[in-house]
Amino acid sequence: MKKSFFFLLILTGFFACDTYRSLPDLAFNNDWETLPIAATPQIESGDPAAGWQYLISGDYIGSGVPFDMVKNKIATKKDTILNREGVNENMPFGLTAFQHANGTTVMSGNCLTCHGGFLNGEFIAGLGGFGINDFSKNNATTFKALNTLVKLKYKKDSKEREAYDIFGKINKEALAYIVTPFEGVNPAFRLEEAYIMKRNKSDLTLQENSNYKLDKRYTLASDVPPWWHFKKKNALYYNGMGRGDFTKLLMQASTQGVKDSTEARAIQQNFIDVLAYINTIEAPKYPIPVNESLIWKGEKLFNKKCSKCHGTYGEIEAYPNKLVALEEVKTDPYYARNFSTKMHLADWYNESWYGQSEPKSYVKPMDGYIAPPLDGVWATAPYFHNAAVPTVEAVLNSKKRPTYWRRGKQLDYEKMGWEYQQMTKGGNKKTYDTTLPGYGNEGHTYGDDFTEEERGAVIEYLKTL
Ligand code: HEC
Ligand code: HEC
Repeated sequence: MKKSFFFLLILTGFFACDTYRSLPDLAFNNDWETLPIAATPQIESGDPAAGWQYLISGDYIGSGVPFDMVKNKIATKKDTILNREGVNENMPFGLTAFQHANGTTVMSGNCLTCHGGFLNGEFIAGLGGFGINDFSKNNATTFKALNTLVKLKYKKDSKEREAYDIFGKINKEALAYIVTPFEGVNPAFRLEEAYIMKRNKSDLTLQENSNYKLDKRYTLASDVPPWWHFKKKNALYYNGMGRGDFTKLLMQASTQGVKDSTEARAIQQNFIDVLAYINTIEAPKYPIPVNESLIWKGEKLFNKKCSKCHGTYGEIEAYPNKLVALEEVKTDPYYARNFSTKMHLADWYNESWYGQSEPKSYVKPMDGYIAPPLDGVWATAPYFHNAAVPTVEAVLNSKKRPTYWRRGKQLDYEKMGWEYQQMTKGGNKKTYDTTLPGYGNEGHTYGDDFTEEERGAVIEYLKTL
């Protein structure tokens, strides 16, 4: 049997038995097409500078690889991107060496692994990364090898083994669940579900038994939203499911390696500063001249056709925080439906330390997508929650969306987004395949009625946001 056919068979089986639970309590009420989400109180006492330092050198992953073992291979070149000093002086920006609770130095990834990227050669913290992570590779085997190396090098009761234990155990299992069908999409929430699969709800310790079963056969992944939108948002994540206290939601990556809720509490205290830092980030300015004569026309069209969902910009800045029902926006529903029907994450989270201890946060999956702020939209290609569309021109003209495409090397300033190459088929790691479940490029046809000239004017206006 041909491999691709076999894959299709598995997929068909998977979706046939994939019945959706109905969610009476999560239904949209009166105005069911778009639901404004109200703000919740947040801790505002953080120090942004301290938050940045913690983000790039802090101990929030909890455990990691013994630094001595990897130092000579990894810490080889002066860190001229983050300009870190001390133990991180020669580290790549996506990795951090830090002190484990037992005093040894360990290394792990940091938030910028996924939330840092380059624009025209310049590093931008908070830009969803592409290219430093390729989640289409299965890295579980690398971890198995790493586990063996650590065991060979360090004695069973050594501090190094202790400081590696949780990190090694959890990653060896989790990485097998997050292999994406192609590069350029990020499986962060699947990773999260794998990290908490064996964690005790109330004290976060690692237990033998799984809380639920995850499906290895197919990985749903998403784009990475830019951090400069964060300060406008009342609910986090594409489907608005991140509610309540944001410090707890921001520290999710620490479920990779923390020992227990006591460690998590200390991290949460530092995340008061991280929250303050992320709130200071501004969108990068459009770097080349714009056609001034088109902007006022674009603005008028935008305010007429787009503002009700995406807000207004400039002097009267207002962002309505609207969740738009799947039936209205009609972009690929699978991401939202996955969370609202298979509630591993919500069930665990809401009953866990994160949901039960102060300050409380919770996960409330909704059958819709947030209409995101559009500040700096020129820099955030590809578009939609699933990264399915390479340019804003194609967001605003559904007929121009490529079915199979590969990212080019440059930004396309005219079409606003990435240069891309249209392909004739998918089925390989380099090509985005919009025919796969969860990766569709349909819906959001709000720009289809524009004339070419009107569309051009709206794009010109978007450059100024
Ligand atoms: C494995 C990659 C990865 C890592 C590591 C990671 N994130 Fe994320 N992050 C994502 C993805 C993907 C999303 C989007 C998920 C969604 O909205 O459904 C996201 C969403 C967010 C958001 C929500 C933004 C919004 O507009 O809704 C914030 C804030 C954030 N991450 C902060 C952090 C911080 C702080 C860290 C480090 C402690 C971190 N992330 C680590 C991939 C990652
Ligand atoms: C009814 C509400 C609604 C209207 C009207 C609307 N949008 Fe959207 N828009 C959304 C939602 C929801 C998303 C996110 C869809 C997704 O991620 O699947 C979105 C996504 C986008 C994106 C992609 C953003 C990103 O970073 O991925 C752009 C660009 C955009 N809209 C521009 C516009 C423009 C320009 C107009 C006016 C012609 C418009 N939208 C009208 C709801 C709306």
